[in-house]
Amino acid sequence: MEGVTVVDHPLVQHKLTLMRDKSRSTKGFRQLLNEIGMLLCYEVTRDLPLEDVEIETPLTPMRAPMLAGKKLVFAPILRAGVGFLDGMLDLVPSARVAHIGLYRDPETLTAVEYYFKAPANLAERLVIVMDPMLATANSAVAAIDRLKERGAREIRFVCLLAAPEGIEKLRGEHPDVPIWTAAIDERLNDHGYIVPGLGDAGDRMYGTK
Ligand code: URA
Repeated sequence: MEGVTVVDHPLVQHKLTLMRDKSRSTKGFRQLLNEIGMLLCYEVTRDLPLEDVEIETPLTPMRAPMLAGKKLVFAPILRAGVGFLDGMLDLVPSARVAHIGLYRDPETLTAVEYYFKAPANLAERLVIVMDPMLATANSAVAAIDRLKERGAREIRFVCLLAAPEGIEKLRGEHPDVPIWTAAIDERLNDHGYIVPGLGDAGDRMYGTK
């Protein structure tokens, strides 16, 4: 599917299965989400540009590659997106963080914004928006709308599970935003949950409900 990368690495798939299992503890679920966040971060940053710099090893001077170009912004959609954040920051500690507070109205399933705080100069940065579940895509579309309104130009979206309906919606509204996901599930149910899915990611992370 154009613009969609399914990260089928065996470690990701194994950890995802552990997370889907309804008997997984809250602590275990959170830990696994953090670990998969790190592995997805590795994939979503795979094509970042490098530039050679001069260094000296203990033996000799050499030119060696380091990251060049745009600074990264990690943009978790509250609250479940935060589950990816620590793993990603472990890999890219210099990244800035934009918090986007959206909740899903349970009746209309539309995204309601309650918080937005992002670093300045979004136009000069690569923004990686994260939310474990790409279901209706209402939150993802709203978050990306807000980021673009504030100047973001280069945006990528990372999730754990995607519904075909969510991918279609996000690609339709923001065709310039590529998606990375660990799996594409069958469908959404009447309540907007991904099937087979893993339930409510936020509730499973925090032991609510
Ligand atoms: N959000 C979740 O946490 N789970 C779903 O299945 C859909 C949206």
